[in-house]
Amino acid sequence: MTRALYPSSQGAALSAEPYRIDILSRVAAVVERTTGIFIADRSYGKLGAALSKIVTGSPQQWVLEYEQQTERHPAHASLIEQLTVHETYFYRDERQLEFFRTKLLPDLLRKKLTEGASTFRLWSAACSTGEEAYTLAIIASEALTQLSREPAFIMSAARLKIEVLATDLSRAVLAKAQEGVYRSEGMGSFRGVPKFLLDYFSITARSQNGRSFEELTPLAAIKRMVSFRQFNLTSPMPPQRGFDVVFCRNVLIYMQDDVRLRVFQMLERALDADGYLLFGPTDSLKGAELFHLHQNDGQSYYTRKA
Ligand SMILES: C[S@@+](CC[C@H](N)C(=O)[O-])C[C@H]1O[C@@H](n2cnc3c(N)ncnc32)[C@H](O)[C@@H]1O
Repeated sequence: MTRALYPSSQGAALSAEPYRIDILSRVAAVVERTTGIFIADRSYGKLGAALSKIVTGSPQQWVLEYEQQTERHPAHASLIEQLTVHETYFYRDERQLEFFRTKLLPDLLRKKLTEGASTFRLWSAACSTGEEAYTLAIIASEALTQLSREPAFIMSAARLKIEVLATDLSRAVLAKAQEGVYRSEGMGSFRGVPKFLLDYFSITARSQNGRSFEELTPLAAIKRMVSFRQFNLTSPMPPQRGFDVVFCRNVLIYMQDDVRLRVFQMLERALDADGYLLFGPTDSLKGAELFHLHQNDGQSYYTRKA
């Protein structure tokens, strides 16, 4: 019965009116404290819509329980799911990835091979449904195969293992990423993907409700390189240290300065002394002075200062 008092998601997108502002701002504060995601007043309609699907009973009582239980609250994951943006696709930001593939990656790999390293470690730090992580595994694998043809690296390339760690806050997207099955149609995962990438997928024709489409799955050799794990970027310690490359793209945009600075400090702990850090073109980077900024061919990347 109480539900009728709350707006449908469509109504709430226009107005969060049935939830008092103080309720919304208290919920927003818990969301930011636990995930770093900042919800501006102008997004309170979206927050109200999410709450209307979750809250039963008195909103005052509900928010009190949420404040007490925070991440342990049974509705927390569902609320975060509705508030996060999971938009992603293979080879997203082609110019940045071309720069990484043709300039940074060969140099980094050469160095690892010269040192006789056994692993080359990359981190997709807000991986969503996995497209970024598989993209990195494919381009690293291709670059290594090319280097393995050079006489100086035949032996060392055979020994070097590529490992991609892919993390996200959301367990729902991680499950999809782990499954690794992507549809070819529309403006989905494969929009604008370069042709060479498709060689690394197995393709199955499907049809459903009279519609034909293809399902693409990364080849087993690529899937084996990638492991998925839940990780909150606002954690003080990284999931691992010593990464050769970290991609942290299109997530900092949702964070305020103080939270972003904490994420930068955590990323600094994650990065190898010679490692490269890359952000998304729309990410807010205030506070990134913690790192050395390098600019080349119109692209930016970062390294540790110490
Ligand atoms: C827009 S997607 C970006 C995906 C990919 N990096 C890309 O650029 O295509 C943002 C992802 O960040 C995740 N996210 C948001 N806050 C996070 C946090 N505090 N810790 C880890 N992941 C977070 C969301 O769940 C979402 O999947």
